[in-house]
Amino acid sequence: MFEPKKLFIKTYGCQMNVYDSERMTEALGGQGYVETQSPDDADMILLNTCHIREKAAEKVYSELGRFKGLKADKPDLKIGVAGCVAQAEGEEIMRRQPLVDLVVGPQSYHRLPEMEAKTRAGEKALDTDFPEEDKFEKLKSRPKAKRGPTAFLTVQEGCDKFCAFCVVPYTRGAEVSRPANRILSEARDLVERGVREITLLGQNVNAYHGARPNGDMSLAGLIWELNKIDGLERIRFTTSHPNDMTDDLIEAHGTCDKLMPYLHLPVQAGSDKILKRMNRSHTAESYLRLVERIRAARPDILMSGDFIVGFPEETEEDFQATLDLVEEVRYGYAYSFKYSTRPGTPAAERPQVPEDEATDRLHRLQALITRHQREVQDDMVGREVRVLFEKAGRLEGQMVGKSEYLHAVHVGGANVTSGDLRRVRITASGANSLAGELV
Ligand code: 5AD
Ligand code: SF4
Repeated sequence: MFEPKKLFIKTYGCQMNVYDSERMTEALGGQGYVETQSPDDADMILLNTCHIREKAAEKVYSELGRFKGLKADKPDLKIGVAGCVAQAEGEEIMRRQPLVDLVVGPQSYHRLPEMEAKTRAGEKALDTDFPEEDKFEKLKSRPKAKRGPTAFLTVQEGCDKFCAFCVVPYTRGAEVSRPANRILSEARDLVERGVREITLLGQNVNAYHGARPNGDMSLAGLIWELNKIDGLERIRFTTSHPNDMTDDLIEAHGTCDKLMPYLHLPVQAGSDKILKRMNRSHTAESYLRLVERIRAARPDILMSGDFIVGFPEETEEDFQATLDLVEEVRYGYAYSFKYSTRPGTPAAERPQVPEDEATDRLHRLQALITRHQREVQDDMVGREVRVLFEKAGRLEGQMVGKSEYLHAVHVGGANVTSGDLRRVRITASGANSLAGELV
């Protein structure tokens, strides 16, 4: 009897990696693999790595070291490294860790089936090129497997912004947008398979400018096309750069009914001196005016953001400007990180802020963000929202889904199933979620 081979894939980092892992799993499905949740019974282990913040490469090497015993017991086990660490380290990974059979960069996933075959023939496989072809087109999924109600769809990759702290322009390469017709046909396919909410992904998603038969299409144009797909109920996108928030996109937030009132718009810092050194090419003031315009188009929009504290040469006064900006915007969600050096980026060469000072600032910023987050969530009590239900909750008879604003909402004892979109009145606000009842 045919025994499928087992693939264990471990995903680090952002939603783009989650999407990529799904595509890689599907591609290897064509080679007779099914997914397993444990490395112990795997025939192939793939680490889909992230290079954005922590001591990424070192972590990957120590993780790989742990597979030594497994490989000794099962010489046929193949071990691969994908993602941004693969792109950054390349061949060095195989030199430092001879256990590794396969190294594949984010632009080469469509070559995974041939690479896997190569490893089965006892060879090592390495591909970290930046090819011209659309890897997702080549990675076409297997036919019509049913899916849950929400899905990610990558529309652009890479970035030309070169923020002074960031590795993305080096690991993911220059900004490339997928052609609009491919995205639209992938979206229609997802909807046929049960998806009701699509989140468009890209490192700099609002720079999207995909080709269509007569010219280019902006992200707003793409959203309007998606808006026409019957059965698709919700559209989201992430992550955006302030300088690419074009008028048509701001307007779409006010007029496009399927576009959800939630916007992740990282600012990183509130001091103009630091923003300049970060090479962000916007000021605190221009960001605040932008948020004002977005809120004028869609008053109830929930803003979310990213922050870096302890960027080289950040003074207490600079940090205070970040706190002031946060006070002014009042984010519904925000992610804050301590600056961490990425070798090869311009900021790595600058005088660093002492660790304990950066830690102290991070705690102060997070306390403020948490307070706002909590207030924004508590303000939902008594309001009516629409919830797209996704799965059963922790308690018997409970279902959980997301509101328009991306708050998790649970409802008890209601007759709803995954994929239902229902009106819910919010009755309570908990630590990380809201409770409500069907209207
Ligand atoms: N150090 C700390 N945070 C970083 N980010 C990106 N690079 C670094 C770095 N070197 C953060 C930014 C970005 C988010 C995805 O990760 O805030 O928006
Ligand atoms: Fe990195 Fe985002 Fe800046 Fe691009 S815009 S360099 S992805 S932080």
